[in-house]
Amino acid sequence: MAMTKRTHMCGEIVTSEAGKQVLLKGWVQRARNLGGLIFVSMRDRTGIVQVVLDSTALDADTFALAESLRGEFVIEVSGLVRLRAPEAVNEKMATGHVEVIADSLKILNTSKTPPIYVEDGTNEQESLRLKYRYLDLRRPSMQAMLRFRHRVIKCLRDYIDGEGFVEVETPILTKSTPEGARDYLVPYRQKPGLFYALPQSPQIYKQLLMLAGLDRYYQIARCFRDEDGRADRQPEFTQFDMEMSFIEPEDIQRVVEGAYAHVFREVMGRELALPLPRMTWRDAMARYGSDKPDTRFGMEIADVSDTVRGCGFAVYENALNDGQIVCAVCARGAGSLSRKELDALGEFVKTYHVKGLAWAVPNADGTVRSSFAKAMQGDSMARLLTRMDCQVGDALFVIADRKLVALTAMGQLRLRLGRELKLIDSARYDLLWITEFPLVSWDEEEKRFVAEHHPFTTVMEEDVKLMETDPGSVRAKSYDLVMNGIEMGSGSIRIHQSELQAKMFELIGFSPEEAHEKFGFLLEAFQYGTPPHGGFAFGIDRMVMILSGADSLRDVLAFPKIQSGVCLMMDTPATVHEDQLRLLKIKVDEG
Ligand code: AMO
Repeated sequence: MAMTKRTHMCGEIVTSEAGKQVLLKGWVQRARNLGGLIFVSMRDRTGIVQVVLDSTALDADTFALAESLRGEFVIEVSGLVRLRAPEAVNEKMATGHVEVIADSLKILNTSKTPPIYVEDGTNEQESLRLKYRYLDLRRPSMQAMLRFRHRVIKCLRDYIDGEGFVEVETPILTKSTPEGARDYLVPYRQKPGLFYALPQSPQIYKQLLMLAGLDRYYQIARCFRDEDGRADRQPEFTQFDMEMSFIEPEDIQRVVEGAYAHVFREVMGRELALPLPRMTWRDAMARYGSDKPDTRFGMEIADVSDTVRGCGFAVYENALNDGQIVCAVCARGAGSLSRKELDALGEFVKTYHVKGLAWAVPNADGTVRSSFAKAMQGDSMARLLTRMDCQVGDALFVIADRKLVALTAMGQLRLRLGRELKLIDSARYDLLWITEFPLVSWDEEEKRFVAEHHPFTTVMEEDVKLMETDPGSVRAKSYDLVMNGIEMGSGSIRIHQSELQAKMFELIGFSPEEAHEKFGFLLEAFQYGTPPHGGFAFGIDRMVMILSGADSLRDVLAFPKIQSGVCLMMDTPATVHEDQLRLLKIKVDEG
């Protein structure tokens, strides 16, 4: 028998539908049996409506069926929409002014008692939610999240399509791309010992598409990185990936800003002021101790080396003589922190490899409560407090160390204080570009330079000459987009000349043979008329996380993995059958 069609969705049953006969299909959210009267909250993807099953109006069999209803049973109900009596109105429900008086009921399927409550605000254990994700996703807030994500992606597609970009799907079975994480490998059956790698990004393909003359490429690209999970990191995630030919950084930045502004307008109902502010990497490090500064609050870092020079405190004098810096922040309203709390902050900064944290709190009587006042001679403490505009009620924090180490630790302290002192306005969205990153940084463990972004990033023209003499100070033509202290995306203008590309590989310690083995095809490709090009990619998951106010990427993915990379629902990764391993000539060493 053909299935009867729904006339309405549950969430559509509002006052204007009163008096209409409807046919609904959905799940039992809850059934309350008051004797001769059963109230069922019935749910589908649009919402919940109250259905009333009355023993006096239904035949005995139908009412007996109603009595057997349990949570998550799948039902079909037909009935008449009626306005609720004033005392029964539920203002909290979109359909709270009406109810459906059932004249028939069918059970389309039964359900075991669900292991989690399928409703919002029940505070279920996350591991249980993830194990039963398909039930978790039935909750209205999760349905809303999936729809929100869909709308964001649709907006991005609409916008970039309007800018003349063409979507191209690039392979998933590919070769290692140097984005800095470990690869997921896939064994090649026909020649044991050979492997594909899953793409960490479509980086090389999109550059080759510029070679191919595509001019404007984009892709909603799934990327895979075998790295430790965090709230803002998943082993597989989605990038909004793009590349353009014959451009300067401003051209691609304009497109990215435009895409963000479009999403803000269409999905968030907010206007984003364009162009977004720009800050060089050097400034971001100096002022915020971070390459992804949270600019929603002040408390900027100051270099106080000149103020403390000659202060008599051996720690600072020695640090400055060694070419280190002394930096400080003034935390407004932190003057009431206890000794114990201040010491805890000292322990906190040590985890960022600095030797310690000095603090000073001016008292109302003109004295100073401080960990280092005694060591400071003459008026040097007063000068420092004045320089930092540190008033009664505030606290001053000082770190002396190697420049980047000191600034990074201070940046982390600033963030922690910002959170604890509630200085961050969570209703704000602060977006900015960070530009001119260093091309390479020194890796102490590997004893070699590594690419800060990736080895296809080109150099600022005025710094090319430094590549031989002082690689650490060479600036790249690269740019990150930061929102509320989180890196949303990265991009750069690429190297398009094979000699410069070879030089870059050499700088990061690849022998010519190694470079040839890994990227020979690219070096060759570069010899066939490569246009100057550049691009950008941002994390869609991160964008959705921040815009929806979620705390973790796990909340904005339909089927996420936990920190260890495990999917609790599918129980993956999992063992495979011995025959499969034999075919691939793989032996597992359990040791
Ligand atoms: P990058 O490696 O900086 O650049 O990645 C771009 C953006 O992708 C997101 N992202 C992640 N999101 C969730 N989980 C992860 N594990 C994860 N890793 C990265 C971030 C990040 O800013 N090919 C270059 C881009 C380019 O140069 O065009 C690239 O992939 O939001």
